[in-house]
Amino acid sequence: MPSIASQLIHWHKDYGRHHLPWQGNRDPYAIWLSEIMLQQTQVNTVIPYYVRFMQAFPTISSMAQAPLDSVLALWSGLGYYSRARNLHQAARLIMQDYQGQFPESRMLIEQLPGIGRSTAAAIAVFAYSKREAILDGNVKRIFTRHFGIEGYPGESKIQNLLWEKAEELLPTDYGKGQIETYTQALMDLGATVCKRHMPLCGICPLQRHCVAFQKNRVNQLPTAKQRKPLPQKETVFLLLMYQQELLLGKRPPSGIWGELWCPPETEIGTDIASYCQRYLGIKIQSPIQLPILNHQFTHYKLRIHPQLIPVISSTLTEKNKFIWIKPYDALKKAIPTPVRKLLKQNFLLDDHAFTI
Ligand code: ADE
Repeated sequence: MPSIASQLIHWHKDYGRHHLPWQGNRDPYAIWLSEIMLQQTQVNTVIPYYVRFMQAFPTISSMAQAPLDSVLALWSGLGYYSRARNLHQAARLIMQDYQGQFPESRMLIEQLPGIGRSTAAAIAVFAYSKREAILDGNVKRIFTRHFGIEGYPGESKIQNLLWEKAEELLPTDYGKGQIETYTQALMDLGATVCKRHMPLCGICPLQRHCVAFQKNRVNQLPTAKQRKPLPQKETVFLLLMYQQELLLGKRPPSGIWGELWCPPETEIGTDIASYCQRYLGIKIQSPIQLPILNHQFTHYKLRIHPQLIPVISSTLTEKNKFIWIKPYDALKKAIPTPVRKLLKQNFLLDDHAFTI
C-alpha cells in the first residue's frame, strides 16, 4: 500500500490548488504574509488583501519602515488585527536582529511574534524545503477522521498525539519538492475535500483507510469543544456629524480593535448630551437611533447601538486623538468591520461603488 504521503502527493498533481498568488514563489516574506492571512481567513477572502498588501509593501524592510497605521489600514476588514500588529512588530525585529534576512529554521521562525509551530513549519517548508510537519485546523480534521481520534483536538493529550502523527507521516523520499507538495496537498485536501461540513468522501484519495468513513463518524469528528453560550455585551456608538464629517478616535493599543479608528463609545443609559459636553467638548442636537448592529468575536457577542448625532458646536478636547473625516474617506482608514458596515449602511450612496 502506498504511504499516505505518496497518495497525497499523487492526488495533488491533478486535484490540488496550483495557482494561488503566493505559490510558485520562494520569497519567505510573501509566504509568511500569506500564511498569516490564511490563519483565520479563507483563501478567497485573503487573495485581494494579499495582492494589495504585497503591492504596498513588497519587502520586509518596506513594511518595517511603514507606520503601524498604514499596515492596519490594509488589514482593515480581515479581522483578528493582532495578526497585523504582530506582523509589523516581527518585520521590525527581522530588520534589527537578522539584518532583514528571514530566519530559516522552524525553531527560529517560531520565536517571531504571531507565529506558532504550524505556521513556522509551513514557512520553513515552502520557503526553504525544510522537512517540518504542519498541524493547522484543516490537518487536525483530516487526521482525527483518518485515524478515528476521538476527543477535542485542542486538549493537550490529543494535540500531542496529532503532532506525533504529523511527524510520522512526513514523506521520506526527500527532494524534488516532495515536502512542499505534500504540505500543500494536506492544506488543499482539508479545504476542498475533507471539509468540516459536507465533506466529499466519495472523491477522497484517503477514503479506503479512513476510520471515520468506515465507522460512519465523519460528521462527528473532529470532536467539538464543549461550548458555553457566548456572553452578550452592549455598547453605544456615537456617530457625531459636523459639516458632513464624522468624528473618529484612535483606540488604545491594547484591547479589542487596538489602534483602529472608531466612533466614541458609551454604555447604554449614559446621558449622551452631557457625555459629549464633558468628555469631548461637543454640544449636540438630539441623537437619532439607528438600527442595532450585531458583531461576534471569538469570546463574546457585541450588540452595537449606533446613535446619529448632529453636532451644534465643537471645541474638541484632546484634539490629537480624534479626527473629523468624510465617511467615504473613513473607508480607507484602519477601521473594524462593524464600523465599515455602519458607514456603508448609513452614510454612503452606493454600496457597490466601494471595494475596500
Ligand atoms: N491555508 C493555510 N496555508 C495555506 C496555503 N499555503 N495555501 C492554501 N491554504 C492555506
